[in-house]
Amino acid sequence: MDLKTLIRTIPDYPKAGVQFRDITSLIEHPEGFRESIKRLAAPYRDKGITHVAGIEARGFIFGAGLAIELGVGFVPIRKAGKLPGETMGQNYALEYGVDTIEMHAGAVKDGDKVLLVDDLVATGGTAIAAISLIRRSGATLEDAAFVIDLPDLGGAKKVQAQNINTHFLIEFEGD
Ligand code: PRP
Ligand code: MG
Repeated sequence: MDLKTLIRTIPDYPKAGVQFRDITSLIEHPEGFRESIKRLAAPYRDKGITHVAGIEARGFIFGAGLAIELGVGFVPIRKAGKLPGETMGQNYALEYGVDTIEMHAGAVKDGDKVLLVDDLVATGGTAIAAISLIRRSGATLEDAAFVIDLPDLGGAKKVQAQNINTHFLIEFEGD
């Protein structure tokens, strides 16, 4: 199955000149969604992963399916102010200003082996912040899985430079 053909491209969203890669057309397709979860999971079966951590919002969609597929728990990494318990936070730079992501303190800890998941890597800023957050908890994080990479933006290389093994299902390069 060619999953790339199930990603809809919307020109000039959210602003002129941007080609928005829309995963809603993939997840509306039952076989495509199921297949994407199976392919995301493939490298991690029997690798001792104890938790999947997914990044709000689109990372929740794939992360939840991946956690079920791997038979492990799911840890939400949320935008600031959304988690009810004690949290740890990590700032990261946006195009204009900064944002913060949070995780429940104690959700993962020393001895846990976490797999990070999100839908897409662009600049890598979101993933790098999540990597810092998870590692500060004391848990081991060596692997991250994404549906889409945009290599022209260089985010994957920055993630790999953090000693993270990356797994991507689809690339949009030069198009
Ligand atoms: C998008 C995407 C990734 C992130 C990638 O999330 O889902 O999480 O941007 O960009 P980066 O590599 O440049 O950091 P967004 O913050 O737009 O929100 P959403 O997932 O809540 O839709
Ligand atoms: Mg996101």
